[in-house]
Amino acid sequence: MGATTPISPTLLSRGVSIREGRAYLHGIAVADLAEEFGTPLFLYDAAHIRAEVTAAKEAAGWQVAYASKAFLCRELARIMDELGVHMDVASGGELHVALSAGFDPGRIVLHGNNKSVAEIEYGVAKGVGLFVVDSVAEIGRLERAAEAAGRRQPVLVRVTPGVEAHTHEYVMTGQEDSKFGFSLASGAAEAALGMVKASPWLEFAGIHAHIGSQIFLLDSYAKEVDALAAMVKAHSPRVLNLGGGLGVAYVSGEESPGFDAWAVQLYAALEHNGIGPDVQIMVEPGRSLVAQAAMTVYRVGTVKRLEGLRTYVSVDGGMSDNPRPVLYGSGYEAFLPEAADAERDQVVTVVGKHCESGDVLIRDALLPSSLEEGDLLATPVTGAYGYSMASNYNRVPRPPVIFVDESGARVVVRGESFEDLVRLEV
Ligand SMILES: Cc1ncc(COP(=O)(O)O)c(C=O)c1O
Repeated sequence: MGATTPISPTLLSRGVSIREGRAYLHGIAVADLAEEFGTPLFLYDAAHIRAEVTAAKEAAGWQVAYASKAFLCRELARIMDELGVHMDVASGGELHVALSAGFDPGRIVLHGNNKSVAEIEYGVAKGVGLFVVDSVAEIGRLERAAEAAGRRQPVLVRVTPGVEAHTHEYVMTGQEDSKFGFSLASGAAEAALGMVKASPWLEFAGIHAHIGSQIFLLDSYAKEVDALAAMVKAHSPRVLNLGGGLGVAYVSGEESPGFDAWAVQLYAALEHNGIGPDVQIMVEPGRSLVAQAAMTVYRVGTVKRLEGLRTYVSVDGGMSDNPRPVLYGSGYEAFLPEAADAERDQVVTVVGKHCESGDVLIRDALLPSSLEEGDLLATPVTGAYGYSMASNYNRVPRPPVIFVDESGARVVVRGESFEDLVRLEV
């Protein structure tokens, strides 16, 4: 594939088709959706999400817990509930959204390195299936909450296995120097396990570890299993949760390893370490279930050509709807939904509308030279950590979220209005 080729279909969701240059999502022109719902716009392919979750579930005899930090709204929680997966929540707010959608609390896994007493009490009262304990102080808090509620709380102990996944420093979590979990090497994990087992109000359900995000080298997971094996064999957990982190392709040339290859690697490592089917394996993918399901559609505004330097293409969103480029230096690609099969024969810099020079969505984006003010511009693979990390910086209203499938398009989160921007002010 040459450098100036049209956007690769491998970066688009399954429901996207391109006919005579126009991009369609489940048969509806992206331009028509932009016309109807305005820009910027998060366009999710709901059928793609269902297909990815089903593929993840069917890849192995593991339990899948969707890491809802990647993207959560009530409609998504309802889809996940319907598909029978577990859900990882990492705050009282995520828990509330899931519960208010009717998600089964027994299938919720509650995370957090600093759960407040109120969050702990809320989770216990609602019957959260698994608490992932992260510190000695939290074990005490949880024990008191469980006792007060008269409910024995099942618990996973979060272990930092000392494995450094090859990924961005900010999304690396399995190494020793981490704010998350109990260190395996120092003996803190063993001590925490002892505390949980000794508590009359906590039920030791198992062990949890998560080594990071955007992982492409699957042998990192084998190393994780190797590191945890002795502890697993010594304590016979009911559940071994090996976290999420499976890598996703954001730009051409990247390729997600996929759920099947992940499962093969994990189960080979489990077998190699003599960990058998009596331990229920759980995984917690977030990004890999939803990232590719969405694209963000923007409208091009000012195009500034700086002779001999670069061309800035400004869109009507930016770091407030996608902070990942600013936070992690993440790469994206772009295409024009109304010229989706055009050669992308110029390099431009796609920037947002925020008052920050750093508000760059794509530093070197390939786009057709036909591009002009008023065009629609889409960035694919924005379904994870986009809307969920969105802000109102510069008091820019958050875009609507639209779900599209064979039955049509529907608003699942409405776009914010200027009125919404002041609704919390007293
Ligand atoms: C504990 C835990 N589980 C699962 C995930 C999901 O990771 P990903 O979205 O990369 O699959 C994260 C992400 O930060 C996490 O912290």
